[in-house]
Amino acid sequence: MASQGSGASKGSRTSKGSGASKGAVVRGTWLVSSTADGVTEPTTFRLHDREWDLLPGVFAPTYCVSTGFFTEFLPFPVGGSFLEVGCGAGVTAVSAAAKRCARVVATDISEAAVENTRLNAARHGLSERIELYRGDMFDGLGPGDRFDLIFWNSPFIDPGTDDGPSARPVRDDMREQLRQAVFDPGYRAHRRYFTEAGARLTAGGRLLLGFSSLGDHDTLRRLAADAGYRISVLRTSGDLVRGVDYQLLELVPDDT
Ligand SMILES: C[S@@+](CC[C@H](N)C(=O)[O-])C[C@H]1O[C@@H](n2cnc3c(N)ncnc32)[C@H](O)[C@@H]1O
Repeated sequence: MASQGSGASKGSRTSKGSGASKGAVVRGTWLVSSTADGVTEPTTFRLHDREWDLLPGVFAPTYCVSTGFFTEFLPFPVGGSFLEVGCGAGVTAVSAAAKRCARVVATDISEAAVENTRLNAARHGLSERIELYRGDMFDGLGPGDRFDLIFWNSPFIDPGTDDGPSARPVRDDMREQLRQAVFDPGYRAHRRYFTEAGARLTAGGRLLLGFSSLGDHDTLRRLAADAGYRISVLRTSGDLVRGVDYQLLELVPDDT
């Protein structure tokens, strides 16, 4: 498995005063470049004792251990319903179906990611069990769709500029799709996730987020509070990768 670049996760903030540290932006930029340069043809990789397809332009679980970490520790609702936002190559959604979630829906804003998840669902004989949509966040879901668990392994780095992918019409080139998998300018997509997810949960349903020490926790807490949640840390990866701590977070309704 490739390493994830060097540089500290904490550091000076970017010049525009966003929450992103320069170290985080450097690391995110390295991840985009090395994935774009390293995955130029459809390929395969192994994770959790399974073989997976990987398409160019899709977030690569071989370049970032977050996919494996979150998939291992997610509390999948066996017999219940699971929505994965930003499914990427489809490892988490396919694992949810394999672990017997009764209904699995996977969405991504990237067409390549949706196609990649389709390939992996077919590879593992689970096509009938996974519904796929291309869409921005919850777009594409039916009005009555509700889930016992909603999860997003998010693009947790705010690049600190306003000209990132979310500020422009989506271009279908590979590097742009990879930027969208790593960066969320102004945390606009995170804000949408927090404000719109509640209406998509069943009674007692849980809202989780895959985040990291490279993200801006102050802004995340503020966005969560604005949407009526407090953040609870379910699991951290510790020293799985030097300088980055991946964090499985739960957004808990703040009734106080
Ligand atoms: C960090 S990657 C995680 C991919 C995959 N879940 C995994 O763990 O390997 C984030 C994913 O979110 C998707 N994404 C970014 N913004 C989105 C949005 N507004 N709506 C839906 N998906 C989005 C990206 O295309 C990317 O596939």
